[in-house]
Parts: sequence; C-alpha cells; structure tokens
Amino acid sequence: MSKVYVFDHPLIQHKLTYIRDKNTGTKEFRELVDEVASLMAFEITRELPLQEVDIETPVGPATSKTIAGKKLGLVPILRAGLGMVDGILKLIPAAKVGHVGLYRDPETLQPVEYYVKLPNDVEEREFIVIDPMLATGGSAVEAINSLKKRGANNIKLMCLVAAPEGVEILQEAHPDVDIYLAAMDEKLNDKGYIVPGLGDAGDRLFGTK
Ligand code: PRP
Ligand code: URA
Repeated sequence: MSKVYVFDHPLIQHKLTYIRDKNTGTKEFRELVDEVASLMAFEITRELPLQEVDIETPVGPATSKTIAGKKLGLVPILRAGLGMVDGILKLIPAAKVGHVGLYRDPETLQPVEYYVKLPNDVEEREFIVIDPMLATGGSAVEAINSLKKRGANNIKLMCLVAAPEGVEILQEAHPDVDIYLAAMDEKLNDKGYIVPGLGDAGDRLFGTK
C-alpha cells in the first residue's frame, strides 16, 4: 500500500488558507499556488539521494554533494496542474515536463483524456504527477495509467488538497504511488467537489467559469 504524506509546514498551511478563501482573486490565487508548489517541492525532494563530488572552491579543494539517482520528470494534469509547474521548476530547473490533458465530465465525473506528451526516456525518470485536486481520484488514476502504459515505473503524486475517497481509489489502483498533499479534507459533495476544498481549481487559476 502506498504512503500518504501531508505537509504540515506552517508556511504551506498559512498560504493554503488564502488559497481556499473565496475572496482571494485570480492573481493572488495563482501566486499562492505557485509559492505552495515550491514549498511542497522542497519537502518532496527531501529524500533524494546525494553523491559526493570533488570541486575546487576559491580557497582550495573540497568534497561536496550533488543530487544523484534518477532524473526527474514533472507531469501536470491539464489544466489546473499547470499552476504548480513553475513553482516546482524554480527549485528543480533541470526537470523535464510532460503533460497529460484530462477533464472531468461534469455529468459522469469520469475523466476524459485529450492529450499526452511525455519525455522520451520515460523508463529512466522519476515522475511527479501534479494536480491541485484529488477529488474522486478518477483523473489521477487515469493520468498515472497513461504514464505506466508508456513505460513509467517510478511515480509520485503531488496535490494541494485531497478527499479521503480519492486517496482510497488512488491507493487501490496504484499501490506503488505515494501521495504528497498540503491537506486531507473531509469529504466530497454530491457534485464531486472537495469539502471544504477550494472550489474549482482550474477556474480559479485561469479566471474562467
Ligand atoms: C479538476 C482537477 C483534477 C480533477 C480532480 O480538473 O484539476 O484534474 O478535477 O477531480 P477527480 O479527482 O474527481 O478526477 P477538471 O476536470 O475540472 O479540469 P480542468 O483542470 O481543465 O479545470
Ligand atoms: N476539481 C476541482 O477543481 N475542485 C474540486 O473540488 C473537485 C474537482
């Protein structure tokens, strides 16, 4: 069974409060999502393996550390996942970025895939799939199916807010994929929205309705 981590860093929790607030406008919402994504990237990379390298400082030779191991790939689920990409790239600028386009059919709540483009070396990368919302779990399950079908074998999922229902579905479908969250909320409402959540993440990020 996969693990679920909720990042309780005070800065993440503070900023998430303003992301949730319905009075937060598009510009500020975007900036806050970007900042929280950076902070979450800082936490999610905590366990990356290091290797020793020999360098010369202006004072003399030194043995220091750089990140070793697999190369990273980010995969935002379109659209709302895009809002978190730049914040993560600020800390991991060398990461390649793939895209999976999915939308949730408003009637059936089932994910509909409309676009997939991943880096070539899928088997060699450690992927972080990004989406602000894990609601019924359908979109994340489908996005990860899509990655696995193309050869990805090392995947994490990073979301701002999740519903317990979505976490359970994701864990059943992909027990090898650990989940990293800023908050685990109470439940889904009858329209499949996370309660209390933050509303429609895509609409709030892009100013649509
Ligand atoms: C939202 C969100 C997730 C999905 C979560 O996207 O960004 O991708 O819903 O819901 P689920 O867990 O029930 O699948 P949406 O379908 O609204 O598309 P958008 O990002 O284009 O707005
Ligand atoms: N998608 C969103 O953007 N918000 C929710 O609460 C659920 C799905």
